Amino acid sequence: MGRIIAVVNQKGGVGKTATAVNLSAALAIAERKTLLIDIDPQANTTRSLGFDADPERASLYDALTLSVTFEEVRQSVPNLPYLTLIPADSNLVGVEVELIQTAGREQRLKDLLEPLRRRYQEILIDCPPSLNLLTLNALTAADSVLVPVQCEYLALEGISQLMETLTLVREGLNPELAIQGVVMTMYDDRTNLSRQVVDEVREVLGDQVYKTVIPRNIRLAEAPSHGKPIFLYDSRSRGAQAYFDLAEEFVNEEKGVGQGAPQPDPANTAAEPGIESGREPGSDAGNDERPGGTGHRPHRPEPGSTP
Ligand SMILES: Nc1ncnc2c1ncn2[C@@H]1O[C@H](COP(=O)(O)OP(=O)(O)OP(=O)(O)O)[C@@H](O)[C@H]1O
Ligand SMILES: [Mg+2]
Repeated sequence: MGRIIAVVNQKGGVGKTATAVNLSAALAIAERKTLLIDIDPQANTTRSLGFDADPERASLYDALTLSVTFEEVRQSVPNLPYLTLIPADSNLVGVEVELIQTAGREQRLKDLLEPLRRRYQEILIDCPPSLNLLTLNALTAADSVLVPVQCEYLALEGISQLMETLTLVREGLNPELAIQGVVMTMYDDRTNLSRQVVDEVREVLGDQVYKTVIPRNIRLAEAPSHGKPIFLYDSRSRGAQAYFDLAEEFVNEEKGVGQGAPQPDPANTAAEPGIESGREPGSDAGNDERPGGTGHRPHRPEPGSTP
């Protein structure tokens, strides 16, 4: 059964979309069947994968308002056969108003996604930077949240606001909602501030913070305008390496969670060349000064080489 993870932070511009897109792409390259849902009317995830946000085409809006089925909305992502997108468009802004009188309006996405757990191993939802009905739908549907936090002044304040929101959601809509992890983004190794912020956040949140830190990397900023995830734009960039490392942590933690010893799953074990078995021990990872990085470079499978 697949897991559902909301990529969330009410703060704008912290790297939610970059993380949702590139983590999903890394998981797909590792042959994990991945569904990426764009629930932000800005439709940045949709555009970052090369789709236009045409309001005439069926989108998540139509699925949430029940006028079309999932099958009619889903899009295959070019060169990433294991990745499927549910696109957004500006119509999503209207969901709040349209569902205002509807009972169970926070459950719409959950109802849509539950049957899809059988078909996808990973379901990621890219949230808008606000706490509205769309975000509440994501938090109600999700098993856990993945929180990108930008390495900047007042990062902890932003996190504590988000934690309060999660507490409220647990009290009302989704008692089981867990924290998958916090990922520090846009780390700039030329500044002390970035280092201080990472140290501070780790001190407070400990293990909840991923070891992998995403560097500020120009290639990550450029990739969306080419409509490609980083691996199809510049697979040798530091940004690509960081998102592969994050995917590796992300997959490994799933195996450990709540099951005691990791259970080998015959369906999955052969399916993770990029993440599980493709490490190159003794590689030159030490040259790359990613703070707290995992210290190894997984083999990068050729995107698009999968069936
Ligand atoms: N690690 C990075 N290095 C350099 N630029 C980045 C990085 N991550 C994201 N960016 C750029 O920073 C900007 C904001 O990132 P992104 O859109 O992922 O944030 P967001 O949290 O999704 O924003 P919003 O809250 O508006 O949805 C984008 O222009 C993106 O290309
Ligand atoms: Mg975004």
